Amino acid sequence: MGAAPTARYDGLADWYEEYNAPAAEANRAAIVELLGVGEGPCLDLGCGGGLYFDAIRETGRSVVGLDYSADQLRIARARTDGLLLRADAAALPFADGAFPTVAALWISSDVDDFAAVLKEAARVLEPGGLLVYYGVHPCFNGPHVQAGEGESRIVHPVYREAGRHRDAPWWGQNIRRRVGMSHLPLADFLNAFLDAGLVIGRVGEPQNHPVPWILSVRAHRPAEGGRAAPPPAAPAAARQVLR
Ligand SMILES: C[S@@+](CC[C@H](N)C(=O)[O-])C[C@H]1O[C@@H](n2cnc3c(N)ncnc32)[C@H](O)[C@@H]1O
Repeated sequence: MGAAPTARYDGLADWYEEYNAPAAEANRAAIVELLGVGEGPCLDLGCGGGLYFDAIRETGRSVVGLDYSADQLRIARARTDGLLLRADAAALPFADGAFPTVAALWISSDVDDFAAVLKEAARVLEPGGLLVYYGVHPCFNGPHVQAGEGESRIVHPVYREAGRHRDAPWWGQNIRRRVGMSHLPLADFLNAFLDAGLVIGRVGEPQNHPVPWILSVRAHRPAEGGRAAPPPAAPAAARQVLR
């Protein structure tokens, strides 16, 4: 078992809420579509203040929120009457196969070991269960990236340096100056899904940013007996039309 994580967002949750709520609104539709229609509990791994609880519920699922920061969970409590837990995403307090869906939203930049978190996520997924990732694009969003003119980005060679970055001269005055940033180069990032035994069904670069700084991944734990993963469900909006 690895070292206990640091609750880097303790003391920052109110600030983070104010800073991030508008961005969360912009991501909401893409996350609803990425999840597709579903049912049963969805584990929101590293849920923070619960900015995406509504989006998860909109797909037909209920929410179980988990975060290591008690301060973030204090904010999340206002967004759910359901189960909220303070625990390490890399050592989940759940039985194997407990969840039909796990959501990993904007956490690869914050957990110390994203590969270990994905292994735990795969363990607690039921066979055939769905994992969605939505968050930083490892190529154009990370400790190696400097904002340029307009939508352009300058990419520095520390791209190859996997792990925790505490600071860089080109970082702006944003969340990263306060909590640092974890990073995996793209190949390591994608291989972490494969090493967790997950089958990637779809990869996206949402929101049409000219330099795509958001990445989405839809993956499944293989169904028992090696059957193919179920096809992506229709987005919630389509479900209403199909009824
Ligand atoms: C950038 S925030 C994202 C929060 C939320 N998913 C969202 O999109 O608004 C990253 C979150 O990961 C949590 N976190 C970092 N390491 C963690 C760990 N090992 N276990 C559980 N949560 C962790 C932090 O406390 C923080 O709330």
